[in-house]
Amino acid sequence: MTIELADAVGQLIRGRRATRAFLSDSVPEGTIEAVFGLAGSAPSNANAQPWQVEVVSGAARDELADALVSAHRAGRRTLDFPYDESIYSPVHRRRRAAFGAAVYSALGIGRGDEDLRTDYDLKSLSFYGAPHVALLYAPESGNPRLTADVGMYAQTLLLAMAAHGVASCPQAVLSFYSGTIRETLGITGGKLLLGVSFGYADPDAPINAVEVGREPMPETTRFHR
Ligand SMILES: Cc1cc2nc3c(=O)[nH]c(=O)nc-3n(C[C@H](O)[C@H](O)[C@H](O)COP(=O)(O)O)c2cc1C
Repeated sequence: MTIELADAVGQLIRGRRATRAFLSDSVPEGTIEAVFGLAGSAPSNANAQPWQVEVVSGAARDELADALVSAHRAGRRTLDFPYDESIYSPVHRRRRAAFGAAVYSALGIGRGDEDLRTDYDLKSLSFYGAPHVALLYAPESGNPRLTADVGMYAQTLLLAMAAHGVASCPQAVLSFYSGTIRETLGITGGKLLLGVSFGYADPDAPINAVEVGREPMPETTRFHR
């Protein structure tokens, strides 16, 4: 790898971040095909490529956002993969709390501001205004190894998007309404791992200026020599 390529990849990896306010402009078809083509180069167990990807735009996107907001209002949640607080260890909780504080402070939402929090939830279910959303499905078995492959796909997709100037937000929250998504799009089979909203970032939105840091490497990585 040349120094130039290493520098470029470093910039790409560090420059990608979760975007939570989008412009309404669509991403051109050619760019969409290019990024999903690149994402398909992700590695996987035995090259099984066990992902199924649904890309939703236009009227279908609007219909899906409406259905998600209605499901949220009706408290109609269905998850293909269980989720609750217990998945986080104390150290994970500490990092999560720091992240939440950074996001809510950028949004100007205080602890007791229930109405503002509800507004924000609704925005997240409308893909933060993004004109497109990709839904990433793991195999029906929910096998953890094959589901991890979908994670590999997801990061490859996010980086491919960043390389093409397309902003994104991976959103587990969309997977909390897997039944609604399945019904609205007529999807059968698979387990919904996460959604990825994508489009062009709103440069004026304060939320998009939030940069969450990372732990120093020794906190997560040990070298045995
Ligand atoms: C699997 C996964 C699920 C996520 N779910 C959500 C989500 O539901 N809503 C959201 O706003 N951000 C979500 N994120 C974005 C993370 O909060 C974000 O990646 C993390 O805070 C690090 O910030 P960065 O991506 O800007 O570096 C998710 C990220 C991943 C990888």
